Amino acid sequence: MGVFIGVDVGGTKVLAAVVSASGEVVRTARRSTPGRRVDAALVEDALTAAVEDVAAGETVEGVGIAAAGFVDAEGARVMFAPHLPWRGEHVRDRLAERWGTTVALNNDANCAALAEVTYGAGRGASDVVMITLGTGIGGALVLGGRVHRGRNGMAGEFGHMQVVPDGQPCECGNRGCWEQYSSGNALVRFARARIGHEPTVLEELCQGNPDLLVGPMVTEAAEAGDLVARQAFGSVGEWLGVGVANLVAAFDPDCVVVGGGVSAAGDRLLEPARSALVRSLVGGGQRVVPPLVRAALGPEAGVVGAADLAREVGQARR
Ligand code: BGC
Ligand code: NA
Ligand code: ZN
Repeated sequence: MGVFIGVDVGGTKVLAAVVSASGEVVRTARRSTPGRRVDAALVEDALTAAVEDVAAGETVEGVGIAAAGFVDAEGARVMFAPHLPWRGEHVRDRLAERWGTTVALNNDANCAALAEVTYGAGRGASDVVMITLGTGIGGALVLGGRVHRGRNGMAGEFGHMQVVPDGQPCECGNRGCWEQYSSGNALVRFARARIGHEPTVLEELCQGNPDLLVGPMVTEAAEAGDLVARQAFGSVGEWLGVGVANLVAAFDPDCVVVGGGVSAAGDRLLEPARSALVRSLVGGGQRVVPPLVRAALGPEAGVVGAADLAREVGQARR
């Protein structure tokens, strides 16, 4: 018996993991994502390297890919990905051939939702709204215990709901998308705008060059008590709560689960989000406001869900 692997392909990094049959991450490997204006083959090379690394010579029974993009209804192609160069690419079959193994493909947030419903914060819930905060906002809608895919397989793209008409330009080509106000990118943009204008340890952390600032530096600074970094989380958290209030108004779920790298900040992010949710939710006094909780599997939810998908496909073929 060989191993099943999940790979999460985000806008900044590729995380691969060997995952056990009970959803435990056995070991991981990482690569950085080569960028979004590069040849798609470069992203696939990074994926391949991470998969080879983590397989460590063991037989690979199947690989599940959690992709930060719009995956078609068949789970074969990545049709569009704001932060990656894939455009209508036959990712599943191309990589299955390259790796000589079974490959399953789904959207990254959908994979995270599958894992949270099976092993994590969504266990036992029927209807769940999943949000992943990374480079952008990933979303998934679980209805009656199943991830809702929609006509094109593209349901749950909450990050590109327009919240500010004519607002910040988004990598998707539109303007004012929610992920421009509540994501790793939003956190960094907020902090960058203040470096040089207000005293902040971020200035040191990025060696005086705001272009070098990345999300984890803001998390580190906030932990050290830096006011600018804390305000950045306040802003991102508040926008998170406002968007979540809209989703709760639409779907009235049992709970809302927040994962992705930015969620590592925990209550620093979720407290302002909870206040904004309570403040913004329609009929707030006359309903049960769903708990807004951190993903139990943290930023590893995507790889766990992806590996489960691969296991399902692999077992169905046997
Ligand atoms: C993409 C989603 C993805 C999310 C998180 C968004 O910009 O449109 O498909 O799930 O980023 O990676
Ligand atoms: Na999704
Ligand atoms: Zn957008």
